[in-house]
Amino acid sequence: MRIEQNFSLENYNTFHLPVKTRWFMEYWTEEELGRILRDEYFQECLSTHIGAGSNLLFVNDYNGIIVHSQIKGMETVGETDDAILLRVGAAERWDDVVAYAVSRGWGGIENLSGIPGETGAAAVQNIGAYGMEIAEVVDSVETYNQLTFEKRVFTRAECQYDYRDSYFKNPHHDPHIVTHVVIRLARRPVPRLDYGDLRGRLEGQKPTLQAIREAVLALRAEKLPDPDQLGNAGSFFKNPVVDRATFERLKAINPTIPSYPMADGRIKIPAGWLIEACGFKGKRYGAVGVYEKQALVLVNLGGAQGDEIALLAESVRAAVFDRFGVELTPEVKYVG
Ligand code: EPU
Repeated sequence: MRIEQNFSLENYNTFHLPVKTRWFMEYWTEEELGRILRDEYFQECLSTHIGAGSNLLFVNDYNGIIVHSQIKGMETVGETDDAILLRVGAAERWDDVVAYAVSRGWGGIENLSGIPGETGAAAVQNIGAYGMEIAEVVDSVETYNQLTFEKRVFTRAECQYDYRDSYFKNPHHDPHIVTHVVIRLARRPVPRLDYGDLRGRLEGQKPTLQAIREAVLALRAEKLPDPDQLGNAGSFFKNPVVDRATFERLKAINPTIPSYPMADGRIKIPAGWLIEACGFKGKRYGAVGVYEKQALVLVNLGGAQGDEIALLAESVRAAVFDRFGVELTPEVKYVG
């Protein structure tokens, strides 16, 4: 176990904000996690469990305990003719899991290449990209209840996955800390190339998993800034989902508005388009800005504070609401 006081989180958030936490605790085993959670001082304090901090906005210094897992490891725990069950420690970098699966020819997560963050958080957040979501391959999620200290294995159905949402994000549920994620990978992968940009790159080919991974990494590099070069947390907002009547009203006034139909009949609208239409793309405001190649990404241009990013996000939200009547909700989690 590792315990630090007045600890800098600069390398634990991809905005690279120079925030400090009063306490920082890291554990390597479930037993250590149990000891942290049962500690009386811990129970009295404000606490937040983080992954790699690639989807967090620390609005100021954290007056509590930041907890981080170091539970790693990948092991095959089941095998059939069609599938492999891979059990992954929550602290394993998600992209290392993708690279491992791709190198063995196991399919199902190759489109999720290059997403920053750790596996536990990926399963909480239901990460998605290029027509795939982690929810589709989650077999089960192993957790530790922060209040009752019970271990529980959630089936995929019990995780209640939705677009960037899960049981674990619902504030009405007891906080559950993910220790391991079991994913089901296909031994005979079927490429998933529905996403326009990806299909465009691989047109006419029968791509290998490795070729798909490389195409996804190249697409990401074109549109998304590398957090080590330019602090950011990927998409700052979720893409809003509206009912058909709302969409028809928007389309009548904005004929070029892009849209993606959802299975339930509602329509997903790219927030990046709405933000660009409000004139924010590429704009700089002191130390913060809107990325020039993808308006959904807010960036730390150097030396930004969390509240400056929060203020820019609020201006963007208000402008989109005034112009389109559509409410943007942050995808990143505010902490502090
Ligand atoms: N668009 C614009 N202007 C912009 C950005 C986007 O007009 O500045 C429009 C374009 O029409 C474009 C469409 O939005 O075709 C979609 O853009 P993109 O393919 O970049 O995807 P996105 O909807 O903006 C989502 C995810 C990303 C994921 C990509 C690729 C969310 C909130 N974001 O973005 O996930 O990588 O699709 O599948 O769902 C993340 O969650 O952090 C993230 C990066």
